[in-house]
Amino acid sequence: MTSGEFGTADDRGSGPAQSGSSGPATPGDGTRAVRAGLPEPLKYEPTLPGPVFAAHFHLPGEPTGPYTYGRDENPTWTLLERAIGELEAPGQESVETLSFPSGMAAISAVLFSQLRAGDIVVLPEDGYQVLPLVREQLTAFGVEVRTAPTAGDAQLEVLEGAKLLWIETPSNPGLDVCDLRRLVAAAHAQGTLVAVDNTLATPLGQRPLELGADFSVASGTKMLTGHGDILLGYVTGRDAALMAPVRRWRKVVGAIPGPMEAWLAHRSLATLQLRADRQTATARTVAEVLRDRPEVTGLRYPGLPDDPSYKIASQQMRRFGCVVSFTLPSRERAERFLDALRLVDDATSFGGVRSTAERRGRWGGDAVPEGFIRLSVGAEDPEDLVADILRALETSAA
Ligand SMILES: Cc1ncc(COP(=O)(O)O)c(C=O)c1O
Repeated sequence: MTSGEFGTADDRGSGPAQSGSSGPATPGDGTRAVRAGLPEPLKYEPTLPGPVFAAHFHLPGEPTGPYTYGRDENPTWTLLERAIGELEAPGQESVETLSFPSGMAAISAVLFSQLRAGDIVVLPEDGYQVLPLVREQLTAFGVEVRTAPTAGDAQLEVLEGAKLLWIETPSNPGLDVCDLRRLVAAAHAQGTLVAVDNTLATPLGQRPLELGADFSVASGTKMLTGHGDILLGYVTGRDAALMAPVRRWRKVVGAIPGPMEAWLAHRSLATLQLRADRQTATARTVAEVLRDRPEVTGLRYPGLPDDPSYKIASQQMRRFGCVVSFTLPSRERAERFLDALRLVDDATSFGGVRSTAERRGRWGGDAVPEGFIRLSVGAEDPEDLVADILRALETSAA
């Protein structure tokens, strides 16, 4: 059996949106993750073929694919792209996925291949901190960039006449959530395309294409691969005509993943459900512990029932992710807290099996208080992590 035989839109899993869905005949997220993208079993061949290192392929006669030159296609990408497509859009054979060497390469490929001078694009005001640089570049190319905050579907107010709506939900690092179905309906009603940055949720946490988006775009550097050792990105789309310019952009710019990274990513997908379930459950535990601390303000976790994001998140997300954000009273207190942690590395990025945390204000790009901490919960034992965090909170008070 190949993994392509798996998957319907209402498949099982462990997140909130699956309750009451189909019976045991439909494989769950763990089953789909371990089999995603695997080729037909061939005697004496490995289950997941190793990385193919090739700048060119034997190509006598007419130069037709699938494999001609290493910048255009590679068999290791093919398997990874198939796997991601199966997770992003189960049962939808027609989706196409393109892999990229980083999340930013994937984001830029969509924006710069779809937009022309004179077009209007709506970007999040509170999204990933490189987006302001992207905004500058788009503006320099003659694209009109409008921004809106993620919370409260504020994008609706600036949507008129836009060619593309770019959504990041949950937003990084503020963890606001917007209503994807509602925004897609409004955008499509006026012919606006919708792309969703699915980095924080992962395809096991949220399926933007099923919610109506035209593109699901992500950094695979985070939870998708989960070990903090590779950079990767991807774009999944359902419409071949919209994906063709993205593919052409990849070729023109030469923004291609290395076969080793692509293979490592594919191997890592097998544990995605295990990691996502563990990290999501512990993130909620950590958030509940932080909620009771007097020095913590502005706590955000979309999976907490009293979080402002919870209502919409539980309608469109299947897992709430591993990122918790909160604010300590001052920059100094936050720095002492980070310094006192023993099981949480003071590092940027998120989604890895080793917990990380950082004071986001140190980068200067996010509109956050000086004591704002973004904590990415890893796969450590929850009781060890909670003890470490509580101890660091106590130590940093002095
Ligand atoms: C939400 C989000 N999108 C995109 C990116 C960019 O991904 P990469 O670092 O793989 O280029 C990041 C990186 O932190 C991110 O947090």
